[in-house]
Amino acid sequence: MSLNLAVPSIRVGASLQERFMEVRNTSLQITASFSAEDQMLQSMPDASPTKWHLAHTTWFFETFILLPHAPGYEAFDPRYQYLFNSYYKQLGTHPNRGARGLLSRPNLEHVYAYRSHVEGALSPLLANAGDEILELVELGINHEQQHQELILTDIKHALWSSPLRPEPLADAHHKASAVPLDWVEIEGGIHSVGHDDPGFAFDNEAPRHEVLLRPFRIGSRAVTNGDYLEFMEDGGYRRPDLWLSDGWDAICAQGWNSPLYWEREDGSWRQFAMNGTIQVGTREVDPAEPVCHISFYEADAYARWCGARLPSEEEWEVAATRAQTKGTFLDDNVFHPRAARGDGRQMFGDVWEWTASPYVAYPGFKPAAGLIGEYNGKFMCNQLVLRGGSCATPASHIRATYRNFFPPHARWQFSGLRLAK
Ligand SMILES: [Fe+2]
Repeated sequence: MSLNLAVPSIRVGASLQERFMEVRNTSLQITASFSAEDQMLQSMPDASPTKWHLAHTTWFFETFILLPHAPGYEAFDPRYQYLFNSYYKQLGTHPNRGARGLLSRPNLEHVYAYRSHVEGALSPLLANAGDEILELVELGINHEQQHQELILTDIKHALWSSPLRPEPLADAHHKASAVPLDWVEIEGGIHSVGHDDPGFAFDNEAPRHEVLLRPFRIGSRAVTNGDYLEFMEDGGYRRPDLWLSDGWDAICAQGWNSPLYWEREDGSWRQFAMNGTIQVGTREVDPAEPVCHISFYEADAYARWCGARLPSEEEWEVAATRAQTKGTFLDDNVFHPRAARGDGRQMFGDVWEWTASPYVAYPGFKPAAGLIGEYNGKFMCNQLVLRGGSCATPASHIRATYRNFFPPHARWQFSGLRLAK
């Protein structure tokens, strides 16, 4: 069976088995400072408890690899097949997404034991595995990396939702002036986008195909908090002429007048944030940092206020392919976007950038046959594409062709924007 996924790429100096354990250990490292009580919080249906993420990523390896491919494998607990299924309907029913915070049982110790059980069974299987299993392990590794980002964004939202108001955080970051915004010119014509090299990619990044682009200009850096404050101070949230109809309805219904996690205190803006030790608290909004935790609606309204627009995902990809400069990733242990430095391009890391593109299939896209085909394709409706990764994305997980997607109202991811004209 072909999974319609690329052949696994083995990073120099690290076998697939080593990478598997590295990623498994990273999930434990980034959650180690949270108590068992923290790890079962669910603050909204979109966000899942840390403990659920730790179990579900394990379920993925057990369900797609061990149960069908490891002779004699005994499930850690057969009930987990139902309990930690996220959305794979071909497997049958699963718990309601919004009820994941009710899982006080199994407790965290049992989830750790589940993780060890699956790792112990999977590692020996890899020594003689064929391409199909290796492809599935590669997919499982990338799946767990996606959940690492969700672990951080979900628990950030959960801890912010606590009635106990957050303590001030020491300003952990060096304050820098924002790099000036320049415009990078990209020529019009036929460009190629999408994945086709031998490394791993998700099925939604292919096939590579040609697109016709008009000449365009794209911002040399992400929009900063300082930029966004000017929009706010100009009454940006009170001017219906700047907003899409759905966006205006959303800000009126939700009472939004700033990015998520911003709070006005003694005449200045503070924001709820994580710092390098995964402590949470509030700190002053730094005007030089990229604005984040905004919806597509806010990104779109800001761009309109500037007389600019959001780039299409194809424009973004063409520009990013020429500017491989890196920003801040999960590996930097900052868990907060940092001000652009150097040439300021910062197309990868720090904040996901909303694009104007709906998340739909590329021409010729075919999801994999069977169960695994539910991974991406069935979500290609009512969502927008974001590009570039964030400060919560593992550095090895991102590439120019990577397509993230969220509904337009979503704000709890590290989502920001870059302008285009
Ligand atoms: Fe998942």
